[in-house]
Amino acid sequence: MANLEELRGKIAAIREEIRKETANLQDSKAVYELKKSFLDKSGRIGQLMRYMKDVDPSQRAEFGKNVNALKDWALEHFNSMDEEMRRREVQAQYEREKIDITMPSHRRTAGNLHPVTQVRNQLIDIFSGMGFEIFEGTEVENDYYNFTALNTPKDHPARDMQDTFYLSPDFVLRTQTSAAQIHVMENEKPPIKILSPGKVFRSDDDATHSPMFSQMEGLVVDKGITLGDLQGMLDVFVKKVFGDETRTRLRPSFFPFTEPSVEVDVSCFECGGKGCNFCKHTGWIEILGAGIVNRKVLENCGVDPDVYSGLAFGIGIERVAMLKYGINNIKQLFESDLRVLEQINDK
Ligand code: PHE
Repeated sequence: MANLEELRGKIAAIREEIRKETANLQDSKAVYELKKSFLDKSGRIGQLMRYMKDVDPSQRAEFGKNVNALKDWALEHFNSMDEEMRRREVQAQYEREKIDITMPSHRRTAGNLHPVTQVRNQLIDIFSGMGFEIFEGTEVENDYYNFTALNTPKDHPARDMQDTFYLSPDFVLRTQTSAAQIHVMENEKPPIKILSPGKVFRSDDDATHSPMFSQMEGLVVDKGITLGDLQGMLDVFVKKVFGDETRTRLRPSFFPFTEPSVEVDVSCFECGGKGCNFCKHTGWIEILGAGIVNRKVLENCGVDPDVYSGLAFGIGIERVAMLKYGINNIKQLFESDLRVLEQINDK
């Protein structure tokens, strides 16, 4: 006959054992294994029931109660252990997967437009504000549009002003956006007010010249157009690009397709016109060629020069960019060196 006191000792010992062993557990899986070893049918607690038959019948109910109490307690104990383990595991997972949002990220700098594009866009903005429309010509032209129609026939000495890349006896890489003037006048009736930006090509190569560069042609044809209109428009343009104090002056020059022809200077924006190294002590900087469209050019395009007159100008975009941003070698605009390009951003 088993003594109830003894059995209660066993029960207490099991309880103590559970307490001790669970104290060292590290994860929920271990809790589960241990729980099974005590609470499964064949587990240590279940096995206690085997003693039932040895207990005095009058004490069996009491014994049964004691075992059940142990079972309830163990279940509760394992469950709360399990909960605790899972909480720790989830916490550990959070720690592992935590993203430190305060950590500085890799800086990504925003790109910016190329200086030549910036100037080109600025010029388009300014002149379209005055009502100019864009007409883009083609980079390959035939001799007629690039020269002959512009009053520069085959043997004309002015052809030497521009060393030309010939693709064939008849086709050239255009040397000037002026070629676009002819296309526009052939196809449209005055009033005409166009701006023609684009690449041009000349066999020329030094610090301020490149075999490929960009120009912006302007052409206005209407009744009563004069050099005064030209100067008025160019005044607005240079003030917007180089600053409000900048003044312009027209100097006589020669182009076969304009008569009179002028070279347009702006007052030096470095010294304000007093004279410095930048303007070679003249106080002025040359920025573009222009003039009143030659009667012969109007005639070549079927525009009556006795009714209409026109003005034209050609701006070198790289030249404006170089002056504006203080670049002294045109190659810097084509080398794509980010250290240079990153410094030039008007936005
Ligand atoms: N086409 C001339 C050049 O390339 C510039 C120009 C354009 C001059 C229009 C007068 C009128 O040098």
